[in-house]
Amino acid sequence: MAQLAHAATDIIATRDRIAAHIVGRERELELTLAAVAAGRDMLLEGPPGTSKTTMLKAITEEWGIPLFFVEGNADLTPAKLVGHNNPARVLREDYSADNFVPGPLVQAMEAGGFLYIEEFNRAPEDTLNTLLTAMADRSITVPRVGTFVALATFRVIASMNPYDNVGTTRLSTSVSDRLNRLAVEYQDAPAERGIVELRTAAAGALGERLVADAVAVTRATREHADIRQGSSVRGAIDSVLVAGQLALLRGLDGPTDRDYPELFFDAMIVALSGRIHLDEAAATTPELVLREIWEDRFILDPATAEPG
Ligand SMILES: Nc1ncnc2c1ncn2[C@@H]1O[C@H](COP(=O)(O)OP(=O)(O)O)[C@@H](O)[C@H]1O
Ligand SMILES: [Mg+2]
Repeated sequence: MAQLAHAATDIIATRDRIAAHIVGRERELELTLAAVAAGRDMLLEGPPGTSKTTMLKAITEEWGIPLFFVEGNADLTPAKLVGHNNPARVLREDYSADNFVPGPLVQAMEAGGFLYIEEFNRAPEDTLNTLLTAMADRSITVPRVGTFVALATFRVIASMNPYDNVGTTRLSTSVSDRLNRLAVEYQDAPAERGIVELRTAAAGALGERLVADAVAVTRATREHADIRQGSSVRGAIDSVLVAGQLALLRGLDGPTDRDYPELFFDAMIVALSGRIHLDEAAATTPELVLREIWEDRFILDPATAEPG
């Protein structure tokens, strides 16, 4: 019992230290931490910008272990994931452990780090199968090179975007049966404002209005009928940063300047037009859709646009 109480104090303190670096996300952090602390691998399923990388960075930093990033796509062959033999040296010296160039999987196993595979469902089947063996055995044998045994803190974390519908495969049951899973949704508006404030260091009356407007229009891109997938919080962060520079360039006189709305629209074009994905059937353009969203906020409903 005393041991259990000690373990509880430990993981609670760990959770609290990690939470200090993250805006909100208490539940997601607690569930992710519980899974990795239990020694388990995990799939985080959610659209971009929903704190997946932020949480993993915070956990691995707290544990003092490296985080290895891999992008899942059709080119992610087993050899790219595991490693390959240096061909010139193999010709000169034959196969050996010395001539092996480890890929991110072997690097993560040997360093006891997290292997984070984004867009997991875009990776080819044989690559996923290689990964399954490594996950099950916690070691991997490379023919003519040797066996690499994972340190205890090695984990595989996969992520995928549920809106993703090009070049993806559905996970086979043999893959999904070996992973824990957490669906991550967009943050709520106050949390997004907190994130944008933190990442842009926006301050003062202008900063406050920029953050409020940026989060509101970014969230509106996720509701618009012509948009298949709207912008993540990254679009709100960039709207604030771009608008801040435009304000300097144009000598804006604070948030109530009559030029503010048009300036903000220009920042939206830069920060959001590439981040919204229109419905194939929609006969419109990102710029037109953004203009509608801007009008909703700045013309039709100016009361909500006034600060305070
Ligand atoms: N909970 C959070 N606290 C602080 N910053 C966050 C949080 N969530 C996201 N961010 C910031 O938003 C951006 C995208 O977040 P990220 O974790 O990379 O998203 P994902 O990996 O889900 O695509 C990053 O700049 C990150 O710093
Ligand atoms: Mg990420």
